[in-house]
Amino acid sequence: MSDRYVGGLRVAAPEPSLHLSALARLIAVTFWGGEEESTLATVGDALRPGGSYRWPGSRIGITDDGRIATHAGLVDYRMRVGEHAQFRTAGLCAILTAEEFRRRGWMRQTMSDLLTNLPAAGYDVSLLFGIDDFYQQFDYRRAWPEHRFEMVMADLTPAPPVTLEFFEHEQPDEVVALANRHEQGQTGSVVREGGWFTKLVEDRGCLWRGTDGNVAGYILTRVNDEQLLVTGHAGHPDEILGVIHQLMQSHDRKQVRLGSIAPECELAKRLRRMNSKEVIQHQRAGGALLRLVNLRSCLLKLLPDLKERLRKSALSDWSGDICFDTDNEMVDLRITNGEVEVADGHLVTSHQVSGPGMAQLLVGTDDIDALMSEGILTAKHDSAQLARVLFPATHPSMPEPDHF
Ligand SMILES: CC(C)(COP(=O)(O)OP(=O)(O)OC[C@H]1O[C@@H](n2cnc3c(N)ncnc32)[C@H](O)[C@@H]1OP(=O)(O)O)[C@@H](O)C(=O)NCCC(=O)NCCS
Repeated sequence: MSDRYVGGLRVAAPEPSLHLSALARLIAVTFWGGEEESTLATVGDALRPGGSYRWPGSRIGITDDGRIATHAGLVDYRMRVGEHAQFRTAGLCAILTAEEFRRRGWMRQTMSDLLTNLPAAGYDVSLLFGIDDFYQQFDYRRAWPEHRFEMVMADLTPAPPVTLEFFEHEQPDEVVALANRHEQGQTGSVVREGGWFTKLVEDRGCLWRGTDGNVAGYILTRVNDEQLLVTGHAGHPDEILGVIHQLMQSHDRKQVRLGSIAPECELAKRLRRMNSKEVIQHQRAGGALLRLVNLRSCLLKLLPDLKERLRKSALSDWSGDICFDTDNEMVDLRITNGEVEVADGHLVTSHQVSGPGMAQLLVGTDDIDALMSEGILTAKHDSAQLARVLFPATHPSMPEPDHF
């Protein structure tokens, strides 16, 4: 690397008072191709202090003459995993090197600095939406494929029209609360505090109410030249489909696309029984990418789920220790009389799961058999059988307006 170095790079956390406008410009130019006022406003809003962008955890690389050459942004949130766990997640966003400074190893330097700080800052995992074939060097691996459905209006039956209330930019609290209830148990979803990360910059929302006056459902939509795009939803599938029909009529669109949909949600199941096209996009090393930060804290948070899964299984009376080993961390689970706990010290056991696919096992990207046949996990003695029970595939997904 050193022969390619031209000058030095100082990596540090950005400061809003010093870097906000230069950073917003750099992000706008890199990802939107220009510095239009509306773009700068959108980016500035995403970076605003007090929002989901975390200034102290983010990193910029500054050249000898004080220019921002690199940026890796951090969003701090809780990701649902299984029925009960919430992993504290470092979401990385707006990863860029200014064009004139690329291919000098400066992003590697910037990312390394950011990642080194994640365990001490209390993160369990890190997630990002990435370009192909760049993030393996930082130990990110595919988190989940993207599912989407496409339909034409002729295949939707009009439902009795419901009264729609529209919202933009800010989501009503009742909608946020319904989203949290609807996404409970959906691995990969965000525990919402204020709404969606994109703050519905492009999306428009509409809600409808039940006879009791409470919000019964919502959908988030966008319209392009040809289609109605549905980017988020909650509620009864028949009502949602009726509302989609209603909106297609009012926007004069004959096609609808439902993107980034949870493959096992009720609406997806309903769509599979109708005339619809389901597209599953797999990316070997791109798209939603996951990295383990702290194996021990992940296992501690998963204990209630592990106990429940064990209790419901044919292995409910299994006792013993099982060791989980990545290159960086080794953690043991002790299982006795249906109790599952993380052991304090290291135990001697022959039941061992090891390899770099550990984060994917913990969240349920795939089951252990798929991860073993991919060659990213190995399991010795009873551990494959146990892992089949303890870590089933969970079909993770995250609605599009959360993609940071
Ligand atoms: C992707 C990007 C951040 C890389 O920044 P960079 O500073 O050039 O990267 P580095 O020089 O630190 O590269 C580190 C390693 O990754 C490799 N690499 C660099 N760019 C790459 C790319 N686009 N795809 C795949 N590998 C790449 C380099 O070859 C280097 O490996 P090597 O040392 O073995 O040669 C930069 O090209 C960029 O800003 N692109 C536009 C914005 C973008 O797409 N960001 C990613 C959003 S997810």
